[in-house]
Amino acid sequence: MSRVPQIVVIDPDRESAAEVGKLLVQLGFQVIGSAGYGVEAFTLAFQMRPDLVLMRVEEPLVRPVQTLSRINDGLPDMPIVVFSSEANLRSMRQSMVSGASDYLQEPLDSDELESALIRVLERKEREGMRRRGELDDPVPTGTIITVFGAKGGIGKTTISSNLAIALATEAHQSVALVDMDTRFGDVAITMDIPVERSIADLARNLDNVDRSTLRDYMVEHESGVFILPAPTRPSDWRNLNARHIRDVVDVLAQTHDFVVLDTPGTFNEIVAAAIEVGTMVLLVTTLDMASIKDTVLALEMLHERFGNDDERIKIVLNRAGVDTGVRERDVEATLDAPLWWRIPQDNDVVKAAQLGRPIVMSRPNSKVATEVREMSRALAGVRRAKNRAAARKGGGGGIMTKLFPSLFKKSA
Ligand SMILES: Nc1ncnc2c1ncn2[C@@H]1O[C@H](COP(=O)(O)OP(=O)(O)OP(=O)(O)O)[C@@H](O)[C@H]1O
Ligand SMILES: [Mg+2]
Repeated sequence: MSRVPQIVVIDPDRESAAEVGKLLVQLGFQVIGSAGYGVEAFTLAFQMRPDLVLMRVEEPLVRPVQTLSRINDGLPDMPIVVFSSEANLRSMRQSMVSGASDYLQEPLDSDELESALIRVLERKEREGMRRRGELDDPVPTGTIITVFGAKGGIGKTTISSNLAIALATEAHQSVALVDMDTRFGDVAITMDIPVERSIADLARNLDNVDRSTLRDYMVEHESGVFILPAPTRPSDWRNLNARHIRDVVDVLAQTHDFVVLDTPGTFNEIVAAAIEVGTMVLLVTTLDMASIKDTVLALEMLHERFGNDDERIKIVLNRAGVDTGVRERDVEATLDAPLWWRIPQDNDVVKAAQLGRPIVMSRPNSKVATEVREMSRALAGVRRAKNRAAARKGGGGGIMTKLFPSLFKKSA
């Protein structure tokens, strides 16, 4: 944004409007007016044409929502961000369907307010540029999952490879698995695939690669996962930099629903790029003290360098259930973050990796396989088959049931 964004505040409570205005000014925005609901709000928005309207919505909703929808009808390109002391779904929904771009709950957190306003303003700017033909047409982008850990040998490759297979076979997604382990690169061994070309070859030839030739660099695993192996000679990584990683992942994400990145137990420029491009980062830890200590440091580093977004960074506990004297809740307290998923300890994981048949395939009924499958479903947003069946059976929520209740009565 080239100039200071101008904002109008709509809030019938003058004291609160002044406070919000002060906060906006502290954040570097320019407040060019404030008003209550109704004609006053509409007139001010029309006269001033600000970059954005920040508006309070409270119960009873009729008047604020009417004001919101009027402004939105009259100035459909002007974003309106709502704030409210209400956290109920009805108030949120009514605001959103009446044209709000975001809904913030009071008390307003200055960081949250700032990032919400900037996000909305940037979206508006992008829309304008796209309309004026200044942006390329949008391309589809898959979800990039970066599997990272502060230490070697804690299960990153196990989780990446099993998760990639589960995403393909259980969640029915197209999946690319990229071995970014700059030291040992053992995805190919774990999945028993031949390595002819690697990520280094793809990066070198990227200018000549299109969607159809991309697959020449990848190996299709029997699960349907497309694997981009690490170079067999670790020295080949020397020719790759962060730019290569971003470009390779970009191409893969345009052609696959999911791109899973396996990383080494060290931190370097390649790993930093893998984390940066990740839609989600799965930070793997185990229950032993050394791993937890390193995970605390890794989490701090991730927050400092890549931002503190707990929707993006999720902690996965591997080898859960092993008696190390450390309790899971102590780990959560130490990390000050919840364990998002738990993969249990199972000696068959080692056997499966040695045989080149990851456990989700070789022992699909094991607890590890079940947990990985559930994780893949959660990531893909696919509900469990059992829940779906239950939802269909019970509740009588369908429109036919509502229209013809007698026909759908349960037999006693
Ligand atoms: N849940 C588990 N139960 C039992 N063994 C496991 C489990 N997860 C991983 N392992 C075993 O631990 C070892 C290390 O796992 P893996 O290679 O996945 O770790 P990594 O973090 O990728 O290591 P590196 O940093 O060296 O790449 C392997 O022998 C693997 O089979
Ligand atoms: Mg590994």
